This record gives sequence, structure tokens and C-alpha cells, in this order.
Amino acid sequence: MTDSTSAKNALANSPVEGKGSVGGARIAILGAGDRGTIYARFLKAAGARIVAVVDWDRSRAAHLAESVAPEAILYSSWQDYLTEAQSKNQAVSVPDAVVIALPDAEHLQPAIEFSGRGISVLLEKPVGLKLSELDRMERHVRAIRKKGSRAAIVVCHVLRYSQFFGAIKTAIQQGLIGEIRSILHCENVSYYHFAHSYVRGNWKDSRTSSPVLLAKCSHDFDLIGWFADSEFVSVQSSGSQSTFLPERAPAGATERCIDGCPHQKSCLYDAESTYIDALPIKRELIRSGRPPLSWMAALAYRWPRLLRRFPFAGRLRPWPFWPTSTIVSGPVTAESLDRALRTGPYGRCVYFAGSNQPDHADTVIQFRNGITATMRLNGNSFQEARTLRIDGSLGSLEGRFGQGGDLRLHRHGRARAERIPVQVDAAGHLREDRALCLHFLEVLECIAGAGTRVPEAMLVRTLEATDLTLHQVIQGHRMALLAEKSRTTGKTIFR
Ligand SMILES: NC(=O)c1ccc[n+]([C@@H]2O[C@H](COP(=O)([O-])OP(=O)(O)OC[C@H]3O[C@@H](n4cnc5c(N)ncnc54)[C@H](O)[C@@H]3O)[C@@H](O)[C@H]2O)c1
Repeated sequence: MTDSTSAKNALANSPVEGKGSVGGARIAILGAGDRGTIYARFLKAAGARIVAVVDWDRSRAAHLAESVAPEAILYSSWQDYLTEAQSKNQAVSVPDAVVIALPDAEHLQPAIEFSGRGISVLLEKPVGLKLSELDRMERHVRAIRKKGSRAAIVVCHVLRYSQFFGAIKTAIQQGLIGEIRSILHCENVSYYHFAHSYVRGNWKDSRTSSPVLLAKCSHDFDLIGWFADSEFVSVQSSGSQSTFLPERAPAGATERCIDGCPHQKSCLYDAESTYIDALPIKRELIRSGRPPLSWMAALAYRWPRLLRRFPFAGRLRPWPFWPTSTIVSGPVTAESLDRALRTGPYGRCVYFAGSNQPDHADTVIQFRNGITATMRLNGNSFQEARTLRIDGSLGSLEGRFGQGGDLRLHRHGRARAERIPVQVDAAGHLREDRALCLHFLEVLECIAGAGTRVPEAMLVRTLEATDLTLHQVIQGHRMALLAEKSRTTGKTIFR
């Protein structure tokens, strides 16, 4: 393998991870859960002021405020916060922006209310849960622009801000693989992550949250649409729920893992080993082969007693990070975890948890410009990674994002593949979350400086680019919703 100049150019021209500390913006966090906390930390670290935290679980709001922004005012509902921010109460100022990190069904309305009052929004996906809600958002953006609003709405499709997917987009734009013909994109969700989020957790029921094809794969549909750079014309999807069903439970399995289930030791999904010892995520870190995390994980996994001799080791059991941190309100302690596993949804046997989400699905999308794409959801994966191949008239791009990254360019007429250097973490997408936050702050700076430090024309261009991205994101959401419709009706859906 050799690094070519073109491969290096693709890296150099791809979105970077931010340029350091931008900020000063006043931002409110709506939803003090996992995502709200991550964004609050990155925004604060880049210089923003977190002025309010909204969560109906007061302990969550207080926990976030304590660790990130002790000066923030706490609210239990975004409606109360909006009313107060608009009142004459001097203590509560109107924020420059809000981060909406509430559950899926609570995104559209606050996004419309805040942006309708000129307040920018960093909006968690999905934008809406129905096609009619997506239409409503598109109409809303047109209406506020007509009135001269400067509010930006940026959706948290964090992978768009990754150096990895940015390098792919740049390579396509530079014509390195010619015209794209087809895209094969696999969203491989590791078996225990799927069980955590879509079998036991917040998205186990598509009727009360959203279909997994939207909740998880909207990122993937968005990337596919971004690379294809065209409107889609049809969607066809097949897939089913095959693993997490009561009839698949081993004989004698109990409703909760810690209720003396006879399969506790051998079960891949045992709640104690998933959340307290965190064996699956340690195995994944080992597989990533990225020191020092993989070494630490190997030590913790293979020789837990030895590790306990080190002073920091006491803090690794119970495991304090994802996924364990998401199953309790407030700090992770032996007591809070015991309570969560005895009474909460994450202690339930995966086979009896009542999930209705498909654990595998293949979706074929046809674009107007002739490109065809296949998107595979695999919820039984050995690895947590997105893998893809984009085939063009002059070559192919082949990559893995997750467990470290790997991106190769195969060009017709060349004997060797070229490796495009990429930066991808061993697990998760914190690097991309940070890049998104820095991007959002740059947009806010542009809005705040318009007419003084920033030329008006630049503001217009920034808002146009933001609105175009929002439109493309909504196209991705449409693909996801139509894929679910196709999967459940067995029909090809034409736009
Ligand atoms: N962009 C990404 O990569 C990504 C990754 C994971 C989740 N998400 C999305 O982020 C959103 C939040 O997910 P999360 O994992 O942080 O969930 P979470 O459950 O950890 O956090 C949600 C918080 O909102 C609070 N809440 C719920 N309803 C409320 C209401 N009506 N008023 C006030 N507070 C309320 C809950 O108490 C909780 O603290 C979801 O929509 C999810 O789809 C995005």
C-alpha cells in the first residue's frame, strides 16, 4: 500500500475537527441525558456558556449542571423555559441557541418554537417521526427565512462532520473514482449495542420511539444521499425481527437476568456482565487494537484482579462509561446499578423485553441520477462499525468506520490500492460530536457577527448552506421512513 498525493489531498480537503476555541454563545440544553451531556461538555470546552438545563428528571438536570455548568438555571419543561426566557425576568436571558437532545418524539415542536423566535437550534435526529412532520419542518424553514430570520437549524448527523466521511466526499468530488454507479453501505451494530438500545432501551418499541431504520440508520441514509448527490426515486426494503423473541429464549430463562437465571454465565446478553463488568465493550476495545485503550481493556478483561492493584482501577468496576452510564439517573454506583437491573428496563431478559424492532434489514434505493444504493442493517454484528464500498466508473472506495478506521482507494489501471489516511476512534463518535459542536459554534459566530465583523453576504451563504444540509438530511429521513413502510408492507415505494 502506498499513500498517494490524491489520497492525501482528500484528507487535507475534508472537514477538519474544528479550529480550536470559538464560542461565547449562550446555550440552553434541553434533555440532560447522554447526548445533552456530551454536547454541553464540548460546547462549554469551546467557550460557550451553558445558561440553562431542561430535563423533567431533576436529578439528571442537576447532575449535568454540577459537572458542566454550575451557573445554569434548571427547568423541568422546555415550555416553561421558553416562557421565562421571553419574559421580562432579568435573571433569565434569551439564549443564542438551544440544543434539543430530548427523546425522538420531542424534537419537532421545540425546534419550531425556538427557531420561530430567532433562536438557533442544534437538533438531535430525527427531525420528525412522520412524513407530514418532515414536510412541516421544510415549510417552517421557508417561512422563517421569508420573514428574515437568522436562526440556524443544524441536525446532529455527526458523521457528516467526521474526517473519515469528509475524506470520502472529497475523493468523490475530486473525481477519483469517476462517476458513482453503486453504493454498498452496512450499518453493523454490535450484538450487545443492539440489545442495549433497540431491545431493552429507549428504542425498543417503534410505536413509542421510532423505527430503528430511522433512529439508527437515518445517519446512513443521510450519508448515502450525500454521496449520491441526487434525489431518490424509489425505496425497497426487506428485513425482520428474528433474534429477540420469547420463542428464542433458552428453556428456564427468567424475566430478569439477576433473578437467578440459569443461563446467566453463558448468555451473551447477561445484564450484569454487560453493564457492571462491561465485558462486551471491553472485548470490542481489545478487538480495535488501538493502544492504550485496547491494552487497558485487555488488562481489565483478562486479569481484573491484577488491574485492581492500580489506583485508578477501583473506578472501572462498576464500569462508569457507556453503556452503563445511560441506565441510571445520576452517578453510576453499585446501588444505583443494582436498582436499575432489578427494576429498570435494562435488567430484563432480551428475549422477553418486548422489542418490535427488526434486527436485520436490507434496503435498496434508486436515485434519479441512476445510482443504486444498498443499505444493510445488521443488529447481530461482531463489530461496531460502518463498512462501505462505493463503486465508480474509474475505481472504488472501500472503508471501515469503527474500531479504528480504514479507507482505501482502488483505481482502475493501478496495481495497488492506495490507503487514504483517516482518523477514527477505537469506539464511539466523540471526535465527530466535538467537530459538530465546533461547526455549530462557528455558525453562531457568523450569525452574531453579521453586519459588524462578518459581511452580510457571508451570513447569507452560511444560512443557505445550513438550509441545504437540513433539506438533504430530511431527504435521508424520508428514505428511512419509506424503507420502514416498504419493509412492513412488502412493496416498493416510489416517491
Ligand atoms: N446523533 C447521534 O449520534 C445520536 C446518538 C444517540 C442518540 N441520539 C438522539 O439523541 C436524543 C437523546 O438521546 P439520549 O441517548 O441522550 O437519551 P436520554 O434518555 O439519555 O436523554 C433524554 C433526556 O430527556 C429527558 N426528557 C424526556 N422527555 C422530556 C420532556 N418532555 N421534557 C424534559 N425532559 C425530558 C429525559 O429525562 C432524559 O434525561 C434521541 O432523540 C436520540 O435519537 C443521537
